[in-house]
Amino acid sequence: MISVCALLVLGLKASDAVTVDYFDYGTDYYQSYGPSGEYLFLYNENELFHVDLESKSVVWTLPGLEKYTSFDPQGGLQDINIAKYNLDVMMKRPNFTAATNIPPLVSVYITKPVVLGEPNILICCVTNIFPPVMNTTWIKNGEKITVGFSQTSFLPAQDHSFRRLHYLAFIPNEHDIYTCEVEHWGLEKPTRRVWKHDVPTPISEAYQNAICALGLAVGIIGIIAGVMLIIKGMKQSAAQGRSQR
Ligand SMILES: *[C@@H]1O[C@H](CO)[C@@H](O)[C@H](O)[C@H]1NC(C)=O
Ligand SMILES: *[C@@H]1O[C@H](CO)[C@@H](O)[C@H](O)[C@H]1NC(C)=O
Repeated sequence: MISVCALLVLGLKASDAVTVDYFDYGTDYYQSYGPSGEYLFLYNENELFHVDLESKSVVWTLPGLEKYTSFDPQGGLQDINIAKYNLDVMMKRPNFTAATNIPPLVSVYITKPVVLGEPNILICCVTNIFPPVMNTTWIKNGEKITVGFSQTSFLPAQDHSFRRLHYLAFIPNEHDIYTCEVEHWGLEKPTRRVWKHDVPTPISEAYQNAICALGLAVGIIGIIAGVMLIIKGMKQSAAQGRSQR
């Protein structure tokens, strides 16, 4: 029986440039498994950047974003150290109970209508993840895929669970069968979700897919809007700088 102690700190830091419609905030957690942790900044629930705890550097989700804004990774590392300290204190408390494993929900869908022979992207959306320890594997026709995929960080949800999106670039044809396999301590056996051409999506999954797809669309719009706000803010401050001189 494996148990993990996780400490999640959700800190809301409303940015100056952002008023009512958009939020960006930083979040970090630290857990006894590994031990491991994560420090990331979100914009409307989508990852803006995370701090790579090994290389102690900032990893921007959209390449080129660092031209418009910056973040000192030391700030993230300090917060992680605080979370680590707090977790140590809490684990020494009598009657401290370890985190309970929750079964995650998995769904697979495609980013755009399938045209055979034209590149497409499969998304494996995993929600309700807790603790944030998970293995996700892409399988094509029974063989584990080793290249051509990427994934987000564990993104915090309001109920303190996490979600993670996994992307696989592929070229659809009539025969290939793709599987997203998720291993998590909340599951007795790995959950598998299959995608192949021309198989109608079961109705129970359609709802999940709609939620994930909506999140993605809102996220992309959010990031674009965020970048525009940042650029606008910079132009304004540059203009102010000029008028003060
Ligand atoms: C631990 O919990 C039990 C049951 O709730 C309680 O009786 C006991 O006093 C607690 N011990 C400590 C050290 O708090
Ligand atoms: C993930 O895979 C590794 C290596 O096979 C295994 O040791 C670990 O227990 C797996 N984690 C989960 C959450 O199943």
